[in-house]
Amino acid sequence: MVQATPFLLVLFLALGTHSISVKKCNLTGRWVNDLGSNMTITSVNANGVFAGFYHTAVTATSNEIKVSPLQGSQQKSPNQKGQPTFGFTVNWSFSDSITVFTGQCFVDDDGKEVLKTMWLLRSRVENINSDWKATRVGFNVFTRL
Ligand code: BTN
Repeated sequence: MVQATPFLLVLFLALGTHSISVKKCNLTGRWVNDLGSNMTITSVNANGVFAGFYHTAVTATSNEIKVSPLQGSQQKSPNQKGQPTFGFTVNWSFSDSITVFTGQCFVDDDGKEVLKTMWLLRSRVENINSDWKATRVGFNVFTRL
């Protein structure tokens, strides 16, 4: 018992330090990305399903930009170890397009939450011959507002 005590103490400290350093990443709230677009995720339910609003700073169209709804879900499986993956769709209210985002919610070295995402923007084209040019791809990084 006397020999085991220092070992248990070290183990306890190691586990304790680990759990302190792993700050949870929560999608709920207001975010801004590297293009200046704003996103609000109103809530995430127990199944990881969420909804919110997206105000893009840019558009591939000549239409007036309007706030658009988003719907998504984050990974909530039992083996989820924090810093969850997620996906969401923005159904643009001012254009014929749809964007899907996929990403992961990280806590960076300064303890700040960062959403690293990739997206596909599908624009409507007039016919099948134009399908080849209908999809744009890119990255966005979101930080909390
Ligand atoms: C459109 O132009 O038809 C709708 C707006 C698309 C905005 C794109 S979605 C990916 C990228 N990230 C943003 O925040 N805005 C652009």
